[in-house]
Amino acid sequence: MKAAELFDLTGQVALVTGASSGLGVRFAEVLAANGASVALVARRAERLAAVKDRIGQNGGRAVAVSADVLDRAAMRRAFDAAEAAFGTVTVLVNNAGVTHADRAIEIEETQWRRVLGTNLDAVLFWAQERGSIINVASILGFGVDKGLIAYSVAKAGVVQLTKALALELAFKGVRVNAIAPGYVVTEINREFLAAKGAEIARQIPAGRLGEERDLDGALLLLASGAGRFMAGATIVVDGGQMVGLRG
Ligand SMILES: NC(=O)c1ccc[n+]([C@@H]2O[C@H](COP(=O)([O-])OP(=O)(O)OC[C@H]3O[C@@H](n4cnc5c(N)ncnc54)[C@H](OP(=O)(O)O)[C@@H]3O)[C@@H](O)[C@H]2O)c1
Repeated sequence: MKAAELFDLTGQVALVTGASSGLGVRFAEVLAANGASVALVARRAERLAAVKDRIGQNGGRAVAVSADVLDRAAMRRAFDAAEAAFGTVTVLVNNAGVTHADRAIEIEETQWRRVLGTNLDAVLFWAQERGSIINVASILGFGVDKGLIAYSVAKAGVVQLTKALALELAFKGVRVNAIAPGYVVTEINREFLAAKGAEIARQIPAGRLGEERDLDGALLLLASGAGRFMAGATIVVDGGQMVGLRG
């Protein structure tokens, strides 16, 4: 078996939420470059259109569908649009996410609900019976940091949800797994990492923050037949940061 064949996604139809910026853009581009047709979902239509065009220019197939993951009707329309364009969605990447910085005693309910709703509830609601479901957790689903209570709790929930869904869906041939990235500079953390990035990088055994392309291998493993016997796993991709925290 050649590696290129093992990881090939020809004929697969992927739907990536949060495909308008950061990791979601990269995920969509990598899936498309390896043969999948990709439905790009997020709220900002112009951004999605630009990603779609770029994928097309590189020889891939993509469709852009503007939808809010908190809006069930809009998400049902997004799945319908993806399936009308390419057929049944076989790879779902639950990547859309937001964060909010506040400590436990200060956080307002609206912010708590927004972070939990986007990062956790939507992962459950859109984890329909797809061939491979890839949830995007975080190392903050394992450790915690001050001021990130809602985000850390949501991501810990994603790790558990991944296991629970895998347990219930594996017998149907649906594989549910997750990727837990360490810090990668994107819109979600640009300001925070501008202030703290150098200090955090010093604590990472690999000596640097992550780059979007560092996640390519884990993504392709979980999306393709290469990960055919994986279910309920969360792959940590963090340059060893978690090991350092635990140690
Ligand atoms: N960057 C990191 O260091 C890091 C580390 C660990 C985990 N993660 C996780 O990786 C995922 C992607 O984050 P990122 O770093 O790429 O951040 P980002 O650049 O801010 O991207 C977040 C994406 O989520 C979308 N989104 C947010 N709320 C949405 C909603 N209600 N409906 C639809 N789409 C929504 C945004 O699109 P619109 O605004 O256009 O809707 C955007 O495309 C998140 O789950 C994040 O928690 C990131």
